[in-house]
Amino acid sequence: MNLTELNRIATAMVAPGKGILAADESSGTIKKRFDAIGVESTEENRRDYREMLFRSKDAMSQYISGVILYDETIWQNAKDGTPLIKLIEQSGAIPGIKVDEGTQGLPMCPGELVTVGLDKLAERLKKYYERGARFAKWRAVIDIGSDIPSMTAISVNAHALARYAALCQAAQIVPIVEPEVLMDGDHDIDRCYEVTQRVLNTTFQELRVQRVALEGMVLKPNMAISGKKCPKQASVEEVAEKTIRLLKACVPAAVPGIAFLSGGQSDEQATAHLNAMHKLGSLPWGLTFSYGRALQAAPQKAWSGRPENVAAGQRAFSHRARMNGLASKGEWQSSLEQKAA
Ligand code: 13P
Repeated sequence: MNLTELNRIATAMVAPGKGILAADESSGTIKKRFDAIGVESTEENRRDYREMLFRSKDAMSQYISGVILYDETIWQNAKDGTPLIKLIEQSGAIPGIKVDEGTQGLPMCPGELVTVGLDKLAERLKKYYERGARFAKWRAVIDIGSDIPSMTAISVNAHALARYAALCQAAQIVPIVEPEVLMDGDHDIDRCYEVTQRVLNTTFQELRVQRVALEGMVLKPNMAISGKKCPKQASVEEVAEKTIRLLKACVPAAVPGIAFLSGGQSDEQATAHLNAMHKLGSLPWGLTFSYGRALQAAPQKAWSGRPENVAAGQRAFSHRARMNGLASKGEWQSSLEQKAA
């Protein structure tokens, strides 16, 4: 393992002004997104849509540090035959790959999930590296309910995240470690804080036990935020203040960067929260976005599967990428949203 190189890549992934495009929706998830805009989820449509994003020159070269791909996409070619991964490299962004294989029910723990995909992972990582991937992603899912999460679910998911991260580093790939605490419930922000604290502490404990080099990874957490169905929604300032307090308590300064998931927040909320965090003063790690929905909802709607809408889709993507790029430096203002093309 070359830790200097892993650290260089991890640091570039969270460079100020830039963040990560999570374009790694599984076939099931992208079908849901396409259903919402009335587009059939064929291999060609998925390719055309992602090609539109990766050919958004302004967004990709100025605001996007890396792109997380799904297995299908990393092997796909653009319409003109250029591998999609080459489009990403040519823009100056770093290609990455989702390597988990989704979730399964966790035995003995009703309603809880464990992420799978460790079998043959070493072999898969080798192929992805040869294809050009320089980082990877593995997402664990922790749900909040009246009597969940159990410590069992937190431990097994942390264990799998650390196994994955160690395998990545051995393959010279930077692991994005993503323990996502869902925001779907009716819990308040303090319950989210308390659960996320347990999840992060357990995850870092496992990473240490399994000798993962913290200098060569990126953390992808949720924010401390109210559940979507909670009647009392925390303000932008409260989310920013509690998230930073939580991360400072749980994430060692040796970690080069933190890149948030959006998790179902609206586009503008996700931007406002990141921006507000940067207003709180200097931080021990890079702090940016690794958004899926909050970067793609607008371009998906603008595109709607029509070739004549490609330019509009790219404008919508560039706008969100720029807004989040500014937020990653604390330079975003809500008035900039109105100026969207
Ligand atoms: P969202 O930003 O839509 O939550 O997706 C990010 C991601 O990569 C989840 O694994």
